Amino acid sequence: MSGFAGKTVFVSGGTSGINLGIVRHFAAAGAKVFVISRDPQKVETAVEGLRALGAEAAGQSADVRQADQVEAAVARCAELFGEIDILVSGAAGNFLARAEKISSNGFRAVMEIDVLGTHHVMHAAFPHLKKPGACILNLSAPQASVAMVGQSHVCAAKAGIDMLTRTLALEWGPLGIRVNSVSPGPIADTEGQRRLVPDPAAVEERVNAIPLKRMGTLEDVAELCAFLASDRASYITGTIIPVDGGTTLNPTPTRMAKFLDG
Ligand code: COA
Repeated sequence: MSGFAGKTVFVSGGTSGINLGIVRHFAAAGAKVFVISRDPQKVETAVEGLRALGAEAAGQSADVRQADQVEAAVARCAELFGEIDILVSGAAGNFLARAEKISSNGFRAVMEIDVLGTHHVMHAAFPHLKKPGACILNLSAPQASVAMVGQSHVCAAKAGIDMLTRTLALEWGPLGIRVNSVSPGPIADTEGQRRLVPDPAAVEERVNAIPLKRMGTLEDVAELCAFLASDRASYITGTIIPVDGGTTLNPTPTRMAKFLDG
């Protein structure tokens, strides 16, 4: 597969989970990929793995909460691989806690990683984005539109990301830059899922609440990203697209309470 041959893809949080799945998909389709995350060891391991697949890959440790670190990483990506065709803002923070138990610092941590981090990534990338032609994908979640117990900080943060998506689609559309949110539901074997459903015995109940009766896979999310980044989606911008097996149609917003009140 070489649908993205020669394209440059930058992914924040791209060293693990859903985001690494997205990176691997683009890499397998011929793209040059650049990943950032806080942990230098995770960056090194991810880059080694991507190179082992035959991809042109590089990375740098950077905390998306720090504008200067993001700017340096994006500049390095552009220096190595040229202007950015596909920008993925995927770095996210999450933990399960009722609002009265979340300190100011805890709430701030998630807002800063998700909302400020998404702004930092788009802001830093702007001078390096291909104009016209760049595609931005911001990782959202069902929490942006469905209230969930123990997720007040994440609900607020993901809703913020979706409004950044819509606003930047409006502002940058005339430059030929498309901006969309991808909203994965429960995806198997990810850190996010382990944080939200820490008891493996509860996974079956979780799956039963999903209309399509299965957890999503990394490929499910990566396929949507590949479609949105392709020319086939050239008239799609400012949207929030779920890849969740219908989860948001059948929310069970109090199900996490059992992990909080026990
Ligand atoms: N319940 C309540 N508060 C919590 C918490 C929990 N389960 N976990 C962390 N916090 C609070 C901490 O107590 C701290 O607040 P305090 O200083 O008032 O005590 C604050 O959050 C920051 O924690 P810290 O661990 O210092 O922050 P960090 O910057 O290292 O980590 C987090 C950020 C908290 C978002 C962490 O969960 C994280 O790094 N997540 C990234 C990975 C991730 O969440 N992946 C899944 C994405 S879906």
